[in-house]
Amino acid sequence: MSLEEVRNYINTVRRDFANRPLTESSIVADPFEQFAQWMEEAVNSQILDPYAMCVSTVGKDFWPSSRIVYLRDVAEGGFIFYTNYDSHKASDIAQHPLAAINFHWSELERQVRIEGTVEKVSEERSDAYWASRPRESQVSAWMSEQSQVVESREVLESRKADILMRFEGMDIPRPPHWGGYAVMPERIEFWQGRPNRLHDRLVYLRQSTRWKVVRLNP
Ligand SMILES: Cc1cc2nc3c(=O)[nH]c(=O)nc-3n(C[C@H](O)[C@H](O)[C@H](O)COP(=O)(O)O)c2cc1C
Repeated sequence: MSLEEVRNYINTVRRDFANRPLTESSIVADPFEQFAQWMEEAVNSQILDPYAMCVSTVGKDFWPSSRIVYLRDVAEGGFIFYTNYDSHKASDIAQHPLAAINFHWSELERQVRIEGTVEKVSEERSDAYWASRPRESQVSAWMSEQSQVVESREVLESRKADILMRFEGMDIPRPPHWGGYAVMPERIEFWQGRPNRLHDRLVYLRQSTRWKVVRLNP
């Protein structure tokens, strides 16, 4: 498609949503349990990578940026992902320890929006997850100066060879620049597409130890 054809397509394409309601009486009191139910339905719907989520942060001068990462755990009240602590997102988080997460499961006409504060997970938790990763992924984590400019693909490949040699015949330890972050939600929205754009939006708002649910206009 030419850009002109793309413009024409996205400007005119229309799709209505099926009629699958999300009601106050059908949700559970704990948003983590509600999330688990929706994730289970996403997994059962054979969605590819239902645990892939868009994480948005803001950095210096409130410059926003977004990227997809994998949700690897939901524990101790947080949504956990793993990454490089020297990456762009890590630098953003160091300046503004806040993030917004978005899951979009188009096959189910659903999105989940999570907003909250961000903290590093414990060293023990990062170690445990590190140990479960395939060796090839561990090598990549050691060799990647994530988000820094690299001269060429060849530079990466030669770094890989160095790392393989360095750790030959031994377990690869977790690099100091790699670990997890937990997004601790203050707000979790469950969005269900409905016909004629009259979508259902139920939001859990944290009220110290409990959650209040409100409905938003679509
Ligand atoms: C499906 C998918 C899953 C990804 N999972 C991760 C992940 O779990 N951790 C990670 O650091 N990057 C992951 N990435 C790469 C990130 O999107 C991003 O390129 C990288 O983290 C650098 O982001 P930054 O420059 O904003 O720090 C994933 C990308 C895709 C498309």
